[in-house]
Amino acid sequence: MKIKKRPFGMVDGKPADLFVLENSNHLEMKVTNYGGIVVSLVVPDRDGNMDDIVLGYNQLEAYVKHNPYFGAIIGRYGNRIGNAQFTLEGQKYTLAKNEGENNLHGGIKGFDKVVWDAKPVMDDDYVGLILKYLSKDGEEGFPGNLDVTVKYILNNDNEFRIDYRATTDKTTIVNLTNHSYFNLTGEGSGDILGHEVVINAERFTPVDETLIPTGELAPVEGTPMDFRIPTAIGARIDADYEQLKIGKGYDHNFVLNKDQEGAMTLAATAYEPASGRFMEVFTTEPGMQFYTGNFLNGMIGKSGKPYNFRNAFCFETQHFPDSPNKPEFPSVVLRPGEEYKTTTIYKFSTI
Ligand code: BGC
Repeated sequence: MKIKKRPFGMVDGKPADLFVLENSNHLEMKVTNYGGIVVSLVVPDRDGNMDDIVLGYNQLEAYVKHNPYFGAIIGRYGNRIGNAQFTLEGQKYTLAKNEGENNLHGGIKGFDKVVWDAKPVMDDDYVGLILKYLSKDGEEGFPGNLDVTVKYILNNDNEFRIDYRATTDKTTIVNLTNHSYFNLTGEGSGDILGHEVVINAERFTPVDETLIPTGELAPVEGTPMDFRIPTAIGARIDADYEQLKIGKGYDHNFVLNKDQEGAMTLAATAYEPASGRFMEVFTTEPGMQFYTGNFLNGMIGKSGKPYNFRNAFCFETQHFPDSPNKPEFPSVVLRPGEEYKTTTIYKFSTI
């Protein structure tokens, strides 16, 4: 196991570093404290060949210039808030609009675009990084000073574990996630339509044309949203189904099956038959956004290959989009004295 650190560049007059974490099985993860971005994640296929299975760039400048959230920590609110506004304890808050009328992934300068404090950590069975950021009261329109800690761990069971923690000094809303784009064949190797996916959800949250949930929890049964048994991503992605047309593919929040709120359960799996790579996702969160890279448009990635339409997918564990305006959805409110606490694990193996 080892952790190395090297300079990655400067943003907002602050130095950003690149941390190289390696576990005892030689899985290697590179992370920068700019946006908490997972720059690369190298895992074996069934023959032991190592490939980098997340999309990203080699240069810090490329992330600063144009990053569709590759690998980043998303906050203060993952996914969309309709009309970029909400009311909390009788007070109306107006947020930055960065996607039409909506607030997406925290606004113009979300947690993906700030420099975090970073401290490497190592224990008997893991290497990791503790990232800290203080989001000021009023930042992007959100109330309260939010003290955020995100711990990335790469352990010797080949799990990438993320612990999210936050506290506030004023009632606020919070919904953190990680936006890694996966391609289990290897980044830049083409589309992900052959990956076989399972999502442990009986229901999903249908959206309107601006991708804001309608409020309904619709059954997946009998629709192309049904991933309760292993199904290729491409099997039904172009079906004549309104929700898929709106999203240009999958771009939907699934309501994860849970017996108990906040329990750590299996959210999803993805299997790539050619390489044999298998990824399992466990989370304490009630939802997961399944996004199939429908807005990737040919940007050149870290190995010089283009990232085109549907060349990666994301499993973003989260609370449901637009929850601040949907009182019937699980609450995203955080009050002074409380602790926001969620965990997500991505586990890698082969079959
Ligand atoms: C959203 C997509 C968006 C993507 C990149 C996903 O979480 O649901 O609509 O295009 O992130 O911003």
